[in-house]
Amino acid sequence: MTDAEKLPSHVGIIMDGNGRWARQKGLERSEGHKQGAEVFRDICTHAADIGIKYVTFYAFSTENWKRPQAEVSSIMDIFRTFLKEAEDRQQENEERGLRFRFIGDIGGIPEDIAVRVNALEERSSDKTKTTVNLAVNYGGRDEIVRAVRRIAEMVKKGEAEPSDIDGAMISGGLFTAGQPDADLIIRPSGEQRLSNFLIWQSAYAEFWYSDVLWPDFTKDDFDKALEAYAARSRRFGGI
Ligand code: IPE
Ligand code: IPE
Ligand code: MG
Repeated sequence: MTDAEKLPSHVGIIMDGNGRWARQKGLERSEGHKQGAEVFRDICTHAADIGIKYVTFYAFSTENWKRPQAEVSSIMDIFRTFLKEAEDRQQENEERGLRFRFIGDIGGIPEDIAVRVNALEERSSDKTKTTVNLAVNYGGRDEIVRAVRRIAEMVKKGEAEPSDIDGAMISGGLFTAGQPDADLIIRPSGEQRLSNFLIWQSAYAEFWYSDVLWPDFTKDDFDKALEAYAARSRRFGGI
């Protein structure tokens, strides 16, 4: 395994390829989402066990509402199941030191899910080992727009001058406020794009792509990404 020094502090994962995985097997797309949720659990546990401090999973984007209603409903149901399971596994999650955070527009998701999400955040809020961000109804542009609106309100009220606005102020207005920027972005399924994921936070992230579809993604794949990351030379504009 990679030595701790070269471990990324914050890993973002775009869980993509569920639909294609299901279709290749002659199954409904929702079956791919179900299998994808299993993999999410495994990788979440694995990331915590190897000591990743922050891991963000992209589960549903602000653009994914464009999909057929039946598919959206099946994804929301899977999210419900995950939240119920997290209640059942509370002790296990606590022992692992998992803190769950929701990132995204919580106002736009079904109310019963939002209530469970708030409870999960609350229950795990004192855990510090690994923060798991669940990006649901998340869009990087939406997140920046919110931060900018908040800053505009401050300026309007005379609490800040336009010249006070800096990168730190914008970072502090994002859902990930207080967390480090993404060091490594993992995208399986063969696509090589961000699809509106952590666009501000990944300004200097390393990218790792794989053709594996998310439901087939393994701990080994995750470790491969970490190894590739450890071998990269990050310069942040320096030499
Ligand atoms: C990712 O898998 C899950 C979500 C976007 C909700 P997809 O459903 O995008 O799977 P493909 O890309 O169609 O295979
Ligand atoms: C990105 O995947 C969103 C999630 C994985 C949640 P998409 O499947 O929505 O992205 P595009 O449409 O291929 O860019
Ligand atoms: Mg996709």
